[in-house]
Amino acid sequence: MQRPKNPQTKPFFYDITLRDGNQSLKKPWSLEEKLFIFDKIVELNIPAIEIGFPASSQMDFEACKTLANRASENTTVSVLARANKNDIDRALQAIKEAKKPRLHTFITLSPFHVEHVLNKTQNQAAQLAIDAVEYGYKSLREFQSEPDIEFSVEHFGDCSKNLDFVIEVLSEIVKKGAKTINLPNTVERYRPKTFLDMISKVKENLPSDTIISVHNHNDLGMATATTVEAYFSGAVQLECCLNGLGERAGNTDFNQVAVALYNCGVETGVDLSKIYETALIISQMSHVKIYEKAPLIGPEALAHRSGIHQDGAIKTKEMDFGAYRPIHPSLIGRFDDEKIGFTSQSGKTAIYDIIKSFKYPITIQESVYLTPIAKSLAEQKGELSNDEILELYFDKICNIKGAFELISFKQIEKGVFDLFFNFNNERKEVIGTGNGPVDACLNGLKKLGFETKLSYYKQYSLDGDLKGSSAQAMSAIVMLDSKNNEIIGRAIDTSTALANVKAIFNALNQMY
Ligand code: KIV
Ligand code: ZN
Repeated sequence: MQRPKNPQTKPFFYDITLRDGNQSLKKPWSLEEKLFIFDKIVELNIPAIEIGFPASSQMDFEACKTLANRASENTTVSVLARANKNDIDRALQAIKEAKKPRLHTFITLSPFHVEHVLNKTQNQAAQLAIDAVEYGYKSLREFQSEPDIEFSVEHFGDCSKNLDFVIEVLSEIVKKGAKTINLPNTVERYRPKTFLDMISKVKENLPSDTIISVHNHNDLGMATATTVEAYFSGAVQLECCLNGLGERAGNTDFNQVAVALYNCGVETGVDLSKIYETALIISQMSHVKIYEKAPLIGPEALAHRSGIHQDGAIKTKEMDFGAYRPIHPSLIGRFDDEKIGFTSQSGKTAIYDIIKSFKYPITIQESVYLTPIAKSLAEQKGELSNDEILELYFDKICNIKGAFELISFKQIEKGVFDLFFNFNNERKEVIGTGNGPVDACLNGLKKLGFETKLSYYKQYSLDGDLKGSSAQAMSAIVMLDSKNNEIIGRAIDTSTALANVKAIFNALNQMY
C-alpha cells in the first residue's frame, strides 16, 4: 500500500494549545510552564503559535510578553484580543518586541450570539469588527511594516442563514488589512459538509490571496474530520491543539490532523516523530489524561484482541501500513510494540507471538493445542497477561502430566544410566545404555516394553534471564506415535541430560 501524492499547498499549522487549550484548564499554566510547552511546540516545527490572551490576566500578559520576546524569526507569535481598543492595545504591548508578531482579533457575527449574548444588532457587531481590524492595522504598523492580522468570526458555524452578510463584512475586513480570515466552528452542532460548503463559499468570494483558516471545536467528535476536509476544500491555516485540549470537548487534535494529512500524501512540514513524546508531556502538564482509546497516542491504540486482528497485526508488524493500524507507530515516535492481549476472542497466532516474545520455542501445532485451554481460562478471568500465557506454556507444554512420572535419571558410568520412574503409579527402574542420555533413556524404556520411535531432537540453550525460568537448557524431543504423527515433548532444566529425559517423558505422556 502506498501513500498517494498530494500536490496541494502545504497546510499552515497554527497551534492554540497555549491559548484555547490553556483557557480550558482547571489550573491555567504559569509562565514557566508556558515557556516549556512553547519550546515543545517549536520543536514540533509548528510555524505559528497563539501564545495567549493578554487582556485575560496579568499572568497571561507577562507570559505572552516573555514568549513573544523568546520566539525566533521562524515562528509567528500571535495573541488574542476581543474587537475593542483596550484588548488590542494590551495585546500589542505584549507582542511589540516579537520578531514575527500577529494580532488575532475576533467577534461573533452569528445571529443567535449577536442577539442573545452581545445584545447588539448585526450591523453594530459588524462595525465593531471592521473598526477593530482598522485600529489593529494602524497600531501594528508602528512596529511591523506589513501588519499581520487575523480576524475570526466567532461562531461562524452558526452563520449559515446570514452567510451573505458575513461575506460582505469579511470583504470589508480584508480591505482594512486582515490577511487571515479564521472561520471557527465554535460549537460543533451540524454536519461537517454544511460547514465545508460555507467555507468554500467564503473562499470563492474573498480575494484569492486571503488565507482561509479553520478552528473547529469537537463537541460532536468530528473536529478532526472537519478540519482535514476543510483543508481539502481550500483552508490553508489549520488551528489545532496538542492532545485536542480546549474548551468543553476540546479543539481539533493536532496529532490526528497532522497524521491524517501525512497519510493522504500531504507535505505537513511538521516533525511527526515528536508527537508521542510531546503528547505524554502535555498530558502530564495539563493533568488531562490521555484516554485509553485515544487515536494514535492512547494506551489501547495499539492493542489487538480478536484472533483475526491479531493474525493480521502480527503478519504486518514491520510494515508502514499495518493490517489493523493506520501508521507504523514509530512515525510518531512511539516504540512500544503492538499489544497482543489474549482474551476468549483471541486465537493461536496470539499464543505463538506471546511465547516467541519471551524467546521460547513453540510450534503452531503447540499454540493450537494451548488455544482452547487459554480461551476457557480467559472466559472466566478476562484478558490473560503475557506471564499467564507463559505459565500455561510451562505447565501444559513443558510439564505434561500423565501416566509417566520421572523420579530420577542418573549416570552410573560412561554410557550407562539408571532410570527410575512411575508408570500409572507403579514404580519402575531400569538400567539403560547408549550413546548419550537420550539413547540410553530410550533403550531403557524399550527394555520395559515402552517402544518409541525418535524422529529427532533439538537442544536450545536458553538465556538465564529468560522470564519465568533460570534454566539454561530446553530440549525438544520429537517422537512418532503409532500412526506416525509427530509428538513434541519439551522440557527445561539446568542439566541438559535431564532436560532431554524430561522432554521424552512429556512426549510419552501425550502418547499414552
Ligand atoms: O472558538 C472560537 O471561536 C475561538 C475564537 C476566539 C477564535 O476560540
Ligand atoms: Zn476556540
